[in-house]
Amino acid sequence: MPDKPLHPALTRQGTGIAADGEFYMPTRALFGRGIAGQAAEHAAALGASSVLLVTDPGVRAAGLIAPVETALAGRGIAVTIFDRVEPNPKDEDCLAGAELIRAGGQQLLVAVGGGSAIDTAKCIGLLLTNGGHPRDWEDFGALRRDPLPTIAIPTTAGTGSEVSPSAVITDTARKKKMNLFDTRNCPRVALVDPDLTLSCPVWVTASSGMDALSHAVDSLQCLLATPSSDALALEGARLVGRYLRRAVSEPADVEARCGMAQGSLTAGIAVGLTDVSGAHALAEAMGGLYGHPHGFCCAVSMPAIMEYNLPVCTDKYARLAVALGAGAPGASDLQLAQAAIGAIRDLNRDLDVPAMSTLVRAEDLDLLGEKAAQNTSTPSNPRIAGAADYRQMFAREIERDR
Ligand SMILES: [Fe+2]
Repeated sequence: MPDKPLHPALTRQGTGIAADGEFYMPTRALFGRGIAGQAAEHAAALGASSVLLVTDPGVRAAGLIAPVETALAGRGIAVTIFDRVEPNPKDEDCLAGAELIRAGGQQLLVAVGGGSAIDTAKCIGLLLTNGGHPRDWEDFGALRRDPLPTIAIPTTAGTGSEVSPSAVITDTARKKKMNLFDTRNCPRVALVDPDLTLSCPVWVTASSGMDALSHAVDSLQCLLATPSSDALALEGARLVGRYLRRAVSEPADVEARCGMAQGSLTAGIAVGLTDVSGAHALAEAMGGLYGHPHGFCCAVSMPAIMEYNLPVCTDKYARLAVALGAGAPGASDLQLAQAAIGAIRDLNRDLDVPAMSTLVRAEDLDLLGEKAAQNTSTPSNPRIAGAADYRQMFAREIERDR
């Protein structure tokens, strides 16, 4: 396998407003009610006569793939369904999907589902053209060949995977969440259809919505952030702050569902331009070890990492507070930053997010700290954190719950 490049946060030149940066978002992202029905036109435009439709059993049972499948078949495009996707998608399922498509010769992947389905499709696409095991392609920009193209159709508002270069896949042998990050992993087309989220279960709406907010927070505090990514992160956070409670309490509220789908997309573009940082380092350590829902792990990790980063992120968090409508008029930046952390704790409470103390075991704290420190995206965190620091963040949150 080729040498892996350094994490871009380690090679960035300049600081603050003088720091270098890049804006590259290669996904054609279309938003609209009912737009999932256009999947066949986009598949045909990409030259596909047969596709592998990647989904999970729940999405299939909810009837969400039927319109896409019918539209593809109506245009004479052969559809093979791969519905083995599980939450926290696993390396072995990606390898099985790659075998299936190697035998079947499909020219395109169509992912219908949450982040797990979209990440699985991305991983299948890169394994098909690059071979090997998913762990061979962990970290940054190491692919040798373009993956098979993907059309991503999210059924939750939160993942952002439909516009991101990441596929987060669990290495089952190491119980580790790997980040396979390469701009060539970005889906070719994203069809963001808020109507697909109307039947989303309440807890999934809450969990995935907090994932969206964590993409905004992680991007905002990321060492690779730029003014362009900050603008997107803040607007993504504003939309989540405005609409998530409504989407949870009134699942049929179309305006709230549209607001959340836009918020997820916007925060997803932000984090696709930068990288996740400390919240995901903590969250993926928990997700890799226990398999908890990703969004809940992110939800409880945000206040923990923000308390730690506060000394170096006061200005960013103050702007986040304004986006979330938190903080009193005339408050100092520090007061606003603390209000932003408080607003996220309030959101967790209002959405019945399980507390950190119920999600992690005290005897695992050392291991969790090590896993967080080893995360691919740890170099993106604006304040250096090692295993002992991450351990302390988990421990403080548990203590707080008591
Ligand atoms: Fe995430």
